Amino acid sequence: MVGLEGPDDAAVWQLDEKRALVVTTDFFTPVVDDPYDYGAIAAANSLSDVYAMGGGPFLALNIAALPPALPPEVSSAILRGGAEKAKEAGVVIAGGHTIQDKEPKYGLVALGFVDKNKMLTKAGLRPGDLLALTKPLGFGCTTTALKQQKADEADLREVVNWMTRLNRTAGLLAVEMGLSAATDVTGFSLLGHAMEMAASSGVALFFDYTKIPFVSGARKYAEMWTFPGGASDNRLYFGPRVEFAPSLDEASQMLLFDPQTSGGLLLGVPKEKLPAFLARAEELDQPVWIIGEAREGAGIVVA
Ligand code: CO
Ligand code: CO
Repeated sequence: MVGLEGPDDAAVWQLDEKRALVVTTDFFTPVVDDPYDYGAIAAANSLSDVYAMGGGPFLALNIAALPPALPPEVSSAILRGGAEKAKEAGVVIAGGHTIQDKEPKYGLVALGFVDKNKMLTKAGLRPGDLLALTKPLGFGCTTTALKQQKADEADLREVVNWMTRLNRTAGLLAVEMGLSAATDVTGFSLLGHAMEMAASSGVALFFDYTKIPFVSGARKYAEMWTFPGGASDNRLYFGPRVEFAPSLDEASQMLLFDPQTSGGLLLGVPKEKLPAFLARAEELDQPVWIIGEAREGAGIVVA
């Protein structure tokens, strides 16, 4: 049902009239110093693509590359962080594979089920849909500030709390509300992933900058320009199709190209569903920010 023809969050294979299998994988090098947090973030990020399709993960395999000189307690903390996050998600880690490498890498292959009539894709946006985001932005510039030893402990705690948070409730909310458009905001940044949605759905997107949520340190680190390399790549690639209001300075613009690790879901919410959507989000204790809307046309405007 979903494969190589368009960019989407996971592959989907129809099993029967109702059910389809969702398959995805992700792994990366450490984004934080604490090995347990790193494992938990990598696992939450890997499972996120299943939630972004409207599915529920149930089984996963570890993929790890670990330096032979890494103390065994560090390796086991990485795997424990992943295992406990998977357990929180109701996912069984049934095996995996580890190789030796100079720099640690960790993530999961994740399998899930989705009701094929309730699947969420990047192509599901319609003109008039509101755009809801379920985690703030600014993880990339904050974790890069950490690597440059410029990050405050409190700012780091804040982004770790967000990055280890599963997108399970956000996905559940989307499915319950009968939404059809979703993606998770990760390495291609808010605007990169939004651009994929705009192109796949054949709509233009409008963002209201004042409505976009950021973690506490984001502005400070953006002004220190501690962006990861991917931010410039995102800007180079997606920037030409984005029109910014002249009032938005360089740092503000760059924050929207900041790669996110284990970012939130970006959902399309039909206008008539908004009151019920917001009420249910509150019941589920799921943060949501309405940051823009889809319109007729192509490309992205940020005002
Ligand atoms: Co994704
Ligand atoms: Co992914």
